[in-house]
Amino acid sequence: MSTALIILAAGKGTRMKSDLPKVLHPIAGAPMLIHAIRAGSVLEPDRVVVVAGHGADAVKAATAAHDDTIQIALQSEQLGTAHAVAQAAPLLEGFEGDALILYGDTPFIRPETLEALAQARTSHDVVVLGFEAADPGRYGRLVMDGDSLKAIVEFKDASDQERAITFCNSGVIAANSETLFKLIDAVGNDNASGEYYLTDIVAIARSQGLSATAVACDEAETMGINSRRELATAEAAFQARARSAALDNGTTMPAPDTVYFSYDTHLGRDTIVDQNVVFGTGVTVETGAHIRAFSHLEGCHVSRGAIIGPYARLRPGTEVSEEARVGNFVELKNALLHEGAKVNHLSYVGDAEVGKAANIGAGTITCNYDGVMKHRTQIGERAFIGSNTMLVAPVSVGDHAMTASGSVITSNVPEGDLAIARAKQQNKSGLARKLFEKLKSIKEKRDKGVA
Ligand code: UD1
Ligand code: MG
Repeated sequence: MSTALIILAAGKGTRMKSDLPKVLHPIAGAPMLIHAIRAGSVLEPDRVVVVAGHGADAVKAATAAHDDTIQIALQSEQLGTAHAVAQAAPLLEGFEGDALILYGDTPFIRPETLEALAQARTSHDVVVLGFEAADPGRYGRLVMDGDSLKAIVEFKDASDQERAITFCNSGVIAANSETLFKLIDAVGNDNASGEYYLTDIVAIARSQGLSATAVACDEAETMGINSRRELATAEAAFQARARSAALDNGTTMPAPDTVYFSYDTHLGRDTIVDQNVVFGTGVTVETGAHIRAFSHLEGCHVSRGAIIGPYARLRPGTEVSEEARVGNFVELKNALLHEGAKVNHLSYVGDAEVGKAANIGAGTITCNYDGVMKHRTQIGERAFIGSNTMLVAPVSVGDHAMTASGSVITSNVPEGDLAIARAKQQNKSGLARKLFEKLKSIKEKRDKGVA
C-alpha cells in the first residue's frame, strides 16, 4: 500500500509569542515539524505534502533542508483543518494510495501507533487516532458505537452528553486519498467556529455507507505544542526517552539526566558518557569510546576507543579515529585526527589533518583564518608539535617532524625536520637583580611621597 503524508502546519502558533513559525521551533535540534515527518516515515510514504501558511517560506526552506522531495501546499488563509487538507488535493491528484494526516505541532506519535492505524485501514475506510484524555478539555470527542466510529464532535458544537465522552480526537486520520478528498469536498462550515472541520468527514463517510473506526494511543504521544512551556515539556520528554534508549542499548551513563541528546545522536555499545555532556546534531560515537564530563559535540564522528574530554568541544566536520585522544579545553573543527593522535590540552585545531600517533602540544593553534579565507593545516604521522606552536595555514608539517615550542610556523616543515621559529634566547648577566633594585627604590620614593 503506498502512502502520502499530509502534514498540517499552517497555523500561526500565537501562544508561542514568536516570529518563528511554531512548527519550526526545535526539539532536540530539529524543528518539531521534522519530528512529525520522521514519525510518519515509518510508513515509508511515497509522497509528503506539508500544508504551510504562516511563515510558509521558512517552513519550505526547513523541509527542503531535511528532504528536498517534500512538497509544500500553501494555505494562505486558515479556514479550518478540512480546508487545510484540501490545499494538498492538487498535489495528490491521481495518487492512488492512502493519505495519512498528521499535525506539524504533534511530534511524538510512535511508529507502532501508525502501524496499527495502517493495519486498521485494511478493514475500515476511515481510521482516526484517538486517546483517553485525562482532561478532555476542548478536544474533539469520538462518538463510538462498539468498534465503529459514528462521528467526531468538536467541543464547541457538542451536547453535554457528548462533552462527557473522554475518548478524544488526536487529529491523525487515515483514508484512501481519493476518498478523503471527496469527503472533504462535502464539508461545510456551518458550525460554532465557522470553520471547515476535517472531523466532519467521519459523519459524512458514515452517511455514504463507508466504515470508520478509531485506534487508541497514549495521550503522551498526541501531545501538541502550543507554547514555550509545552515546548520545554516536549524537550524534556524527548530527552527522557533518548536517555533510557541509550541505557537500554548499552551506553554507560553515570548521570543520564545531565546528558543531552539530539534527535539523530548515535551511540555504539559500551560507550561511556560522563556527566554534563551535550550532543548537538549529527554525532556518531562508536563502540567503546569514552566521552568525559562537560564535553560538547556536534556534527562529528568519534571512533572506537577514542577518549574525548573532559571539557572538549568537537565542532562540525570532526573525525576522531580509533584510540585518539582529545583532552581538556581543546576545540576541533573540520579536523581529521588519525589513529592514536593526541591533542590533550588547550588547543584549537581547525581545517586540519593530524597524522597517526602525532602529538599536538598544549596551546597549539592552527591559524586557519586570514580574515577572509580559511586554509588547511596538514600534520604528518608521529609528528610532534611543541607547546604553544602557531601553525599559520596553509602549512604542513611532515611525518616524524617536530616544531619547537613557541614557534610560529609559516612555511612547510619537511619530513623528519625540526622547525624552530621564535626569537633566540639571550641571558643578560645580573640584569634582573639590578632591575629589581631600581624598581624597589622607585616604589619606596613613591610611598614616601617624594616622587
Ligand atoms: C483539532 C481537531 C480536534 C482535535 C484537536 C487535537 C478539527 C476541527 N478539530 O482541533 O478534534 O481534538 O485538533 O489537537 O480538526 N491547521 C492548519 N490550517 C487551518 C487550521 C489548522 O494548518 O486552517 C493546523 C494547525 O496549525 C494545527 C492543526 O492543524 O497544527 C490543528 O489545528 P487547531 O486549530 O489546533 O485545531 P483544534 O481546534 O485544536
Ligand atoms: Mg489545537
